[in-house]
Amino acid sequence: MIFTEENLQSLPSRHRANLINNCCGIRTANLIGSVDEDLRENLSIFNSVMHLGSDPVLIGFILRPLTVERHTYDNIQQTKFFSINQIPKDLYTEAHQTSAKYKKNESEFETCAIEPEYFDDYTIPFVKKSNIKIACRYESEYNIKENGCVMIIGKIEMIAVDDSGVGQDLWINHEKLNSIGIGGLDTYYSVKCMDRLTYAQTHQDSKSIYGPQKTSS
Ligand SMILES: Cc1cc2nc3c(=O)[nH]c(=O)nc-3n(C[C@H](O)[C@H](O)[C@H](O)COP(=O)(O)O)c2cc1C
Repeated sequence: MIFTEENLQSLPSRHRANLINNCCGIRTANLIGSVDEDLRENLSIFNSVMHLGSDPVLIGFILRPLTVERHTYDNIQQTKFFSINQIPKDLYTEAHQTSAKYKKNESEFETCAIEPEYFDDYTIPFVKKSNIKIACRYESEYNIKENGCVMIIGKIEMIAVDDSGVGQDLWINHEKLNSIGIGGLDTYYSVKCMDRLTYAQTHQDSKSIYGPQKTSS
């Protein structure tokens, strides 16, 4: 199938959304935890969390336009902190449910039966079952003028990752940690590690360093 710009515009909006939301590939699956200034908890699913660089250690995500109440955004404005929690396989239905529009005073942890975890030094809640939990301090935001979305940038302050999925060189194996991926806004994929390759050099084949093709340890 080939879709031109005109075809895309004439598609029924739901079909267009399915195609556009999925065509860039499988996206990251995270729950973002926050509190407001009265320490009321909030938890929401996001598929737009992205790595922004490791020096300084930055992470970002995209928020929909601020034309309706956005609790995650309001909380981050108030307290400047948020947690990013990788969604594990056995939590995807509860995680999906956090996307419903709950009232400000209703904690998704309670309503969606997701157990919170608190760390010393942080007032923000984390997701206990998550195998990768990240504490972020709000750094800045950028308005995306084309559509009114907002890119939030956070500085990573702490990472808690389950030992079972971390190699000696601190490589994270997402298959071992039961991480998942998201297609569009409704499809959940499990993750399988195919291979890990050496740094690519010109005119030289990369070597397998993990997985079925492995040539060295
Ligand atoms: C799979 C999935 C991924 C989502 N990803 C995002 C996202 O990246 N950005 C966003 O603004 N909303 C995203 N949403 C919608 C939010 O989860 C939803 O608007 C939620 O109610 C926000 O809650 P809050 O107002 O408590 O922050 C996603 C929803 C689903 C089901």
